[in-house]
Amino acid sequence: MPRNLIDITDLSVDEINQLIATAEDIIANPVKYQDACAHKQLATLFFEPSTRTRLSFESAMLALGGSTLGFSEASSSSTAKGETVGDTIHTVSCYADIIAMRHPKEGAPYAASQFSEVPIINAGDGGHNHPTQTLTDLLTIHREKGRLNNFTIGFCGDLKFGPVHSLVNALSRYDHINFVLISPTELKLPRYVKEEALKKKGIPYTQTTDLESVIPQLDILYMTRVQKERFFNEEDYLRLKDSYILTPEKLENAKADLSILHPLPRVNEITVAVDKDPRAAYWRQVKNGKYIRMALILKLLGIQV
Ligand code: CP
Repeated sequence: MPRNLIDITDLSVDEINQLIATAEDIIANPVKYQDACAHKQLATLFFEPSTRTRLSFESAMLALGGSTLGFSEASSSSTAKGETVGDTIHTVSCYADIIAMRHPKEGAPYAASQFSEVPIINAGDGGHNHPTQTLTDLLTIHREKGRLNNFTIGFCGDLKFGPVHSLVNALSRYDHINFVLISPTELKLPRYVKEEALKKKGIPYTQTTDLESVIPQLDILYMTRVQKERFFNEEDYLRLKDSYILTPEKLENAKADLSILHPLPRVNEITVAVDKDPRAAYWRQVKNGKYIRMALILKLLGIQV
């Protein structure tokens, strides 16, 4: 059976730490890795829009000396003719050595893995899991803070649908992390995530709707977009979309060494003026996404450099 990454818990903490170490080595010594995946092919199957995840996977494989194939929308594949995900994956696994797949339906990458002879990477399944975003976030925290323990992290915005569930889960496996959950009542972190990742393990967390009252205590602020595509009702989206807008003024009471992360894309939740603040780590986070995906491709293909 090939090794897949469907959920962040498919990786042990030691494996995550090893991926981060490999990514750091790739950043320091890119030439060492430039032919590591020569003659290997990555398929990117995106049934839902993406900029960063798809292009960083493709850039990662090219930087490893491999090549890529795939599609960026379901309408340009035989899905449009009624082909099942299973048959699509079975077909693509005849052509590619590894597959990164995004799908709007929760669990679709897991279902796909049952039909694949090559590793499947979940590149986002709706509002459920986004484990390679989590690896990107962990690498970014490690690079910004020099550690993956002993800090207070605030998650702000759409904690119901945003890609934070995997990150909360992953960080709950590290020591001495305080979680501050900042969201409108309707977009709170789902109960099952809180129960499994935090409550059962006795990990402290606070919930609030008020960003400004908690900003001074944060070491990391993880902003998220309100996920329009997951709403059933346009009126609710319009009411909630601008619940939090981070501005330079709101950062006046924040710590000098705060790190601001955002998985992107952003809509309105961080003003462009914040980009100039050295605490804004989200563009560095985008770059880290390529390096951690390079490390992941090597691991799942069993290639050692
Ligand atoms: N962060 C993220 O998943 O971005 P894309 O939707 O552009 O891939």
